[in-house]
Amino acid sequence: MKREGFFITLEGGDGSGKTTVLGRVAAYLQNHSMPYLITREPGGIEIAEKIRSIILDPAHTVMDARTEALLYAAARSQHLAEVVEPALQEGLTVLCDRFVDSSLVYQGYARGLGIEKVREINQFATGGRMPDLTFYLDIDPEVGLSRIAANRNGDMDRLDLESLDFHQKVRAGYQLVNDTDPQRIVVIDAGRPVHMVEQDIVRVLKDRILKDF
Ligand code: TMP
Repeated sequence: MKREGFFITLEGGDGSGKTTVLGRVAAYLQNHSMPYLITREPGGIEIAEKIRSIILDPAHTVMDARTEALLYAAARSQHLAEVVEPALQEGLTVLCDRFVDSSLVYQGYARGLGIEKVREINQFATGGRMPDLTFYLDIDPEVGLSRIAANRNGDMDRLDLESLDFHQKVRAGYQLVNDTDPQRIVVIDAGRPVHMVEQDIVRVLKDRILKDF
């Protein structure tokens, strides 16, 4: 029987450089002949991408926080069933841009629903599946938002339009959630040049993943 693959997630505030880092991690796995799959939340497959477009539509300013949390959980459940679980069973390393921690932080803490309440609905949605390793890219929200503004030519989604105060709450929420699982969640200072961020990530991958592979 094939050994189950590693499940690695990336977390961070908006503009923390997750997408760039994901590409670098993928290149690293490729160089070490580890088969992998890259995906993201909310999204990754048709049903979840449709849910994503409902959540992020700038016109949906009336969306209730609980509706939003349930939609994220619904997208996650489908994404796990259709993509993540089958890939892990096949022995692939799955790299996922955001997972349950995002909901705990954005919906549970920043929107004020309560981290434990949001954990409960996600427990139902995921059947308890959690990543083996999570990188949290920590960045000052002012720096993150200015990166987004510089890269997107003014194309903003509903969440980018949130106030700086909201993004600062997100960062504080991550600090709380990270403390609940310090073994799984590795905090990386993402305010530095990307090659330094990458060096830290490679060091952790060597320690945690390559030694078992
Ligand atoms: P992205 O820009 O990293 O693709 O994420 C889209 C937005 O969705 C981002 O602002 C964070 C937010 N989000 C949540 O609020 N809760 C969640 O569970 C997830 C996965 C994302």
